[in-house]
Amino acid sequence: MELITSRPKRNPTGSKPKWLSLALALSVSTAVVSTTVESAAILEGDRSVPLEARQGMVVTSHFLATEEALEVLKNGGNAVDAAVTAAFALAVTQPRSGNIGGGGFMLVSSEKKNETIAIDYREKAPAAATRDMYLNAEGEADPELSRFSHLSAGVPGTVAGLALALEKYGSISLSEALAPAIRLASDGFIVTPRFSKGIKDREERLRKFDSTRKIFFKEDGSFYEPGDTFVQKDLAATLTRIAKDGVKGFYEGKTAELLVAEMQRGGGLITLEDLKQYEPVIRKPIHGNYRGYDIYSMSPPSSGGAHIVQILNILEGYPIGEYGHNSAKTIHLMAEAMKRAYADRSKYLGDTDFVDVPLDGLTSKSYAEELRKQIKVDHMTPSSTIKPGNPVPYESNETTHFSVVDKFGNAVSNTYTINFSYGSHIVVDGAGFLLNNEMDDFSAKPGVPNAYGLLGGEANKIEPGKRMLSSMSPTIVKKDGKNFLVTGSPGGSRIITTTLQVIMNVIDHSLNVQAAVNAPRIHHQWLPDEIRIEEGISPDTIDLLEGFGHTVSRKSAMGAIQSIMIGEDGTFYGGADPRRSTSSAMGF
Ligand code: DON
Repeated sequence: MELITSRPKRNPTGSKPKWLSLALALSVSTAVVSTTVESAAILEGDRSVPLEARQGMVVTSHFLATEEALEVLKNGGNAVDAAVTAAFALAVTQPRSGNIGGGGFMLVSSEKKNETIAIDYREKAPAAATRDMYLNAEGEADPELSRFSHLSAGVPGTVAGLALALEKYGSISLSEALAPAIRLASDGFIVTPRFSKGIKDREERLRKFDSTRKIFFKEDGSFYEPGDTFVQKDLAATLTRIAKDGVKGFYEGKTAELLVAEMQRGGGLITLEDLKQYEPVIRKPIHGNYRGYDIYSMSPPSSGGAHIVQILNILEGYPIGEYGHNSAKTIHLMAEAMKRAYADRSKYLGDTDFVDVPLDGLTSKSYAEELRKQIKVDHMTPSSTIKPGNPVPYESNETTHFSVVDKFGNAVSNTYTINFSYGSHIVVDGAGFLLNNEMDDFSAKPGVPNAYGLLGGEANKIEPGKRMLSSMSPTIVKKDGKNFLVTGSPGGSRIITTTLQVIMNVIDHSLNVQAAVNAPRIHHQWLPDEIRIEEGISPDTIDLLEGFGHTVSRKSAMGAIQSIMIGEDGTFYGGADPRRSTSSAMGF
């Protein structure tokens, strides 16, 4: 068994470990960032630990990313090293959601430091964005503009966020973390049925832009089929520029110029200055307590953490475990709690750098008690009596979550996205990556829902430099200071309820983590006033729910939650979501 030289701290210019066959000997530029949380820590990693004594686990929605990240852990890297490696690998192997053209959130927990922080690398509105930029001449919101045009893209945050994570908490260099992604982009990888189907499902939109067509279709215009090799030379060159020049390889120089040229060709707003100005932020996560477990989840500009804690606080007043998993009574109470939280979301939530959000109130036990008093145990309260609205149907879309733990007591929970599957469907010509359409998460007009049927108000109006409200909820649950459950999901508005249910499945219903992930899920988002259910809820239960006055509507699968649970003896249990055929949990 080979021992790897100890390299506990990051040393970008030091000798490279054997395990990385890097073609480039590169230095890394330092990301300049502002933080709202003081945290100078670099998490521990230790390559001197004999391989057979190390442990780690990675769960992602693509096995190639899982494998690459696991390799980092096997070689003594820490959870952040592995997470950043996974994120870049997903940007190559799962371009519908893995990205460098989008943004996201990463929670990092260190047991040894007794600290959990959140990295906010959400996209921002460009400086030239205006409140009414998606309204047509009649004053109506135009979803084509906010979802599928160059105007739909926010200033990407992923590269800066991942670089910051590594800089502050990692032990390998950015070029090391990028090496597997560069190899997968330049040598290519074998197309899976899911990859091929994803493109076929979005064929029309992906063929619309020349820059996108030439990446996602063969030269003769035909599809990539399962078994083919998918090579992305432009993306490999972009990733190599980042490996060489650090964040400047994305936010300045050739990549930035290509992105701005793409904007100018398509009438988008992002400028060189917008890119140069982009900064990720280290934030304090939302913290709550549920039946003795500490819940850490994403703070604004995500609504996720606040509402997961709010819903859990409401439900804590009921013996949910006794009522039973997915029983009519349990689902009824969950739905009643969910609709009240989503009603609050529409009014209060937005980017706290721009608006005041009553987070303490929303997450307090006393407010939960107040809301609980309004809930009738045997009858639904119509959403219209809570607050009126005008929602649109759900869309099926894609984000991606992954969870990592290492043997040093660190855990990473990361959700990132370009919003829809394939985002705006616009590839930056010459740079090979898709642009997000995250601007649609702003409230284009009060009372007009976004693509997920979510309503927003003043707090989430468009303003230059503001981050659009998100539902992404990377979450770490701790018990007595120890990492216990690392979880999170894609799914638009359903992210909050999906994550909530895995937490409850484990804590209230004592399901093992894979069972907790697999179990059929339900969702209520206040408007439309219906309980959405996955396949697998019994007809008897549906009858009872209808008896309580609910409208129950069966919809396709919700979310793709990639989770890790840590047993009392320190054993890692993986829960990869079978709703994605390429999901994988791997540990050692
Ligand atoms: O930030 C958000 O809440 C959305 N843009 C996430 C989109 C998403 O999860 C799509 N996926 N399934």
